[in-house]
Amino acid sequence: MQDLDKIRAEALASVTAATTPEQLDAARVAALGKKGTISGLMKALGAMSPDERKAAGATLNAVRDEVAAALDAAKAVLDAKVLDARLLRERIDVALPARPDAQGRIHPISQTIEEITAIFAQMGFTVAEGPDIEDDFHNFTALNIPPEHPARQMHDTFYFGERPEGGRHLLRTHTSPVQIRTMLSGKPPIRVLVPGRTYRCDSDMTHTPMFHQVEGLVIDEATHMGHLKGCLIEFVRAYFEVDDVPVRFRPSFFPFTEPSAEVDIGCSREGGELKIGPGAGWLEILGCGMVHPNVLRNCGIDPDRYQGFAFGMGVERVAMLKYGIPDLRTFFDSDLRWLKHYGFVPLDVPTLSGGLTR
Ligand code: FA5
Ligand code: MG
Repeated sequence: MQDLDKIRAEALASVTAATTPEQLDAARVAALGKKGTISGLMKALGAMSPDERKAAGATLNAVRDEVAAALDAAKAVLDAKVLDARLLRERIDVALPARPDAQGRIHPISQTIEEITAIFAQMGFTVAEGPDIEDDFHNFTALNIPPEHPARQMHDTFYFGERPEGGRHLLRTHTSPVQIRTMLSGKPPIRVLVPGRTYRCDSDMTHTPMFHQVEGLVIDEATHMGHLKGCLIEFVRAYFEVDDVPVRFRPSFFPFTEPSAEVDIGCSREGGELKIGPGAGWLEILGCGMVHPNVLRNCGIDPDRYQGFAFGMGVERVAMLKYGIPDLRTFFDSDLRWLKHYGFVPLDVPTLSGGLTR
């Protein structure tokens, strides 16, 4: 068995010498492969007498197992080395700031909706959503605007074609239909915030045919007009990050609220720039009021027990005021230079603690 000692020593030496998985595999093939040295000795066992085979076989098996174990151990060490090298090579420092040459920008509308949501979330509102395509019932009738009511003309509605079963779908003219959906599907107390797209046939410096609103709805047993005013004034302070924004509650009319008001922010347009401040004029940012008893009744809520307020805010309008964007139509021009100027770096996520904007 001179041969066996030598073969064993050689096999173990080449296992130890292997520094890559490929070299290790070659060592395995050379010893234990089909034409390997140890496999060759195994085959030779067949030509021996039974007694010889018994003795030689046991020794040979022991050597084969020893070499196989050495191969396994070496493989585990090499695999770990390869993994370490790879982890080092592909290492990413997640604490690094974003690359300064990042091209994409967050649109001011998305940023503003995030900011508004962060403020109202802090006040305990949850976010709700509804469809852009609505029916007459949710957009008008349930909101105390019966057919033929003159308020329907105020909305310059985009209608779809007549349906075979009668009636026409429409693009919602405000986010208020989600008030109805929320009250029909849940019970008071309710405190929701509804951001979304709205549509009206309208276009000038402060109007576009598609724009965004954020609706707010609070229904419980005790909420009154004072809460409405306090909530909106607190919002204005937090959102504009200035204490002395001129805010005006102006009596108004909505069929779905009583009493109703609209809120304006004092601002001026000078040298093509929109600036917040007392003086030249006012820009209307939202409509609001105490939810009309008829609306509660239409949603199966007892108006003798429950009451609350609602508001609908123009997202573009508050974005224009905060970021000094003079023309609302430019929001939807898809002009990359505009977006680069007014857009936000993706990682500037607005939070109340970290500051809404940087
Ligand atoms: C409404 O749409 C009511 N649904 C708001 C409301 C909700 C009142 C809940 C009471 C209770 P109004 O038509 O005034 O109201 O629109 C609300 C706000 O949306 C406006 O103050 C304005 O900021 C914005 N807005 C209205 N029309 C446009 C438009 N064409 N383009 C951009 N913003 C608009
Ligand atoms: Mg209005």
